[in-house]
Amino acid sequence: MSQGLAVVTGASSGIGLELARCCARDGYALLICSDTAEIEEAAEALRAEGAKVETLQADLATPDGVARLIAAVGSRPVEALLANAGIGLGGAFLDQDLGRALRVVQLNIEGTVRLVHHVGRRMRARDRGRILITGSIAGFLPGSFQAVYNGTKAFLDNFSVGLRDELRDSRVTVTCLMPGATETDFFETAGMEDTKVGRADKADPADVARQGYAAMCEGESGVVTGFMNKVRTVFSGLLPDTVLAEMHRRMARPGEG
Ligand SMILES: NC(=O)c1ccc[n+]([C@@H]2O[C@H](COP(=O)([O-])OP(=O)(O)OC[C@H]3O[C@@H](n4cnc5c(N)ncnc54)[C@H](OP(=O)(O)O)[C@@H]3O)[C@@H](O)[C@H]2O)c1
Repeated sequence: MSQGLAVVTGASSGIGLELARCCARDGYALLICSDTAEIEEAAEALRAEGAKVETLQADLATPDGVARLIAAVGSRPVEALLANAGIGLGGAFLDQDLGRALRVVQLNIEGTVRLVHHVGRRMRARDRGRILITGSIAGFLPGSFQAVYNGTKAFLDNFSVGLRDELRDSRVTVTCLMPGATETDFFETAGMEDTKVGRADKADPADVARQGYAAMCEGESGVVTGFMNKVRTVFSGLLPDTVLAEMHRRMARPGEG
């Protein structure tokens, strides 16, 4: 039976593709979006598994890209919004290209805020809908050598809970998926393959997505995936930020992988 429309951003690969797969298995029709033509390959794979899929190639780091996604949704009700598109950028902040650093902010924060604002308003008007935002355990840690990215994820982890509370009297739920290091294209895109975290064993994106999807379906406030990541978030609340930054330095410093 159709569950209605699920919009999944950043669904061409990694966690987003697996989130789309979870939605499709549960009977959602999909509108999936990413910035490159790889979204078509993802759609083919999902269709081969029986999913009903529309695609949009749009740069969600720009207001125009988000507007194009909103236009593609049109007047249809969105039952589930999985705002997952995001990128990282490794290296020392002052050595980064400023444009690339700002693009991390524009995609992870601005693009997500624009999309959630539009879809969230319409969900509130209908008094139904589920929103899943992909944050990160990085949001708990000051991110030496990944400082802008961790800052964007701190924003999303925090924003998600605030929005959820504002909607507490409605039937719209907001859930934050907070993975740790996961085996996706993320570290290559971020230029972090020569770091300890880039080389470390990582979680399976399908497992991560299943946990996030289940939390969204249950209307939970959020889920930190994986036992060790749960431990890390507990410690992050106990240790001083300066110690956490030092720990992050060891994981993310270039050339130490
Ligand atoms: N992997 C990890 O260790 C990890 C841990 C915690 C949180 N996360 C978060 O998980 C989310 C998904 O990342 P991932 O790990 O699955 O990496 P990924 O495989 O690189 O996926 C990133 C997705 O975002 C899309 N994307 C990138 N730039 C975009 C843009 N400007 N406009 C629209 N879509 C864009 C990519 O598609 P195109 O390349 O086709 O544009 C891709 O579909 C991100 O928010 C990331 O911060 C990842």
